[in-house]
Amino acid sequence: MKIGILTGGGDCPGLNAVIRAAVRKGSFHYDDTFVGFLEGWRGLVEDKSMQLDLQAVAGILPRGGTILRTSRTNPAKKPDGLDKCIATLKKNNVDALIAIGGDDTLSVATKLYDKGVKVVGVPKTIDNDLSGTDFTFGFDTAVNIVTEAIDRVHTTAEAHNRVMVVEVMGRDAGWIAIYSGIAGGADVILIPEQPFDVDKVAAKIRMRHGRGRYFSIVVVAEGAKFAAKDGLVTQSGEKDEFGHARLGGIGNTLAQEIERRTGFETRTVVLGHIQRGGSPTAFDRVLATRYGLGAIDMVHRSEFGRMAALRGNKIISVALAEATGTNRRVDQEMMDAVFGILEDVEKEAVAGAVLVLRCPAVLTGSSPSGFPKPAIHDGVLLQGPMGTSAGVPATISQEPLPFAQEDRGKRARGIRED
Ligand code: F6P
Repeated sequence: MKIGILTGGGDCPGLNAVIRAAVRKGSFHYDDTFVGFLEGWRGLVEDKSMQLDLQAVAGILPRGGTILRTSRTNPAKKPDGLDKCIATLKKNNVDALIAIGGDDTLSVATKLYDKGVKVVGVPKTIDNDLSGTDFTFGFDTAVNIVTEAIDRVHTTAEAHNRVMVVEVMGRDAGWIAIYSGIAGGADVILIPEQPFDVDKVAAKIRMRHGRGRYFSIVVVAEGAKFAAKDGLVTQSGEKDEFGHARLGGIGNTLAQEIERRTGFETRTVVLGHIQRGGSPTAFDRVLATRYGLGAIDMVHRSEFGRMAALRGNKIISVALAEATGTNRRVDQEMMDAVFGILEDVEKEAVAGAVLVLRCPAVLTGSSPSGFPKPAIHDGVLLQGPMGTSAGVPATISQEPLPFAQEDRGKRARGIRED
């Protein structure tokens, strides 16, 4: 058979491993020949291709990016775009197509399948948000990159008594944030699936500092949302051909809000495309290879209109329509895992954790009724139980603590452990 291969959407580590595996098994075991369409669907719309043989795939297993290059071209948004794709396949005598991509790329594959094209999909994205599969390749590499970054940020945060906000990718899903946040030991993890209350984030950080940990790591997904504000934080109003805005910027906004509320010096690290670059992890090389092998086998079993998928530890196939119907979001089990290892600000507030508060009324001696007598250490109030029963309001200031930046570390060290 003559088989076309393309890679579409954002690149991701492991794309070359899929291409290599499909070409090797097709060449060695099925006597297939291959053509590579360049720059995603653009290659089919504009008939841009390259020869794809054993020599072309030699040495590419550990390489990031994609030898076929990629783009976010959407043929469905171009005049006669889908028909042009079909014409290019005919012109190149292609019997079947392997499309490697995320939900956008595979939604085009679904449309072409509905028009009679023999197409098989392979799930790619660092976001891990494709339905129908347990994992997409590229995700593990991104999580490892972010985890290493968090480890590095930890030591500098600790050295300076700082709060560090680490902004990660993931679009509308919090998989990268939650996995790397857990792996990196973050103190706060914010994901798009659960809009967050920035006052509670600040209270949590204060609580941690109040028990003697003078730095904090906050991991925030680019698609996370402030509960009190509408919409996503975007870099520009412009949308790509699939209707996605460019996300990014929430890290800086959040850092400002945290510093304003806590008075703790806060910095932001935006990891951006570093998460997509470089060599795939061993896990992703193996997964991508298995997907490539799965896809070529599916072609020879005539399982068209389907996508190779991982379920448990088996490669199976699922309908493209199932994979592209809805995005897969972080599930309750993962959220429970985070809940289990992080402090519960509401519970602690009632149960009597030592909390660092700034409460001008208390500092001048007029304690709100029902509050225990406060202890004041070096200008910082150490408050015992915040109320005698659930629902008693605690005053958590939304203004900066009233001491100079350079004094913060010293003052923080004056706070006793609980
Ligand atoms: O879908 C992968 C992804 O990296 C998202 O996490 C991110 O929002 C987007 O792509 C960035 O796209 P681009 O590379 O076009 O800026």
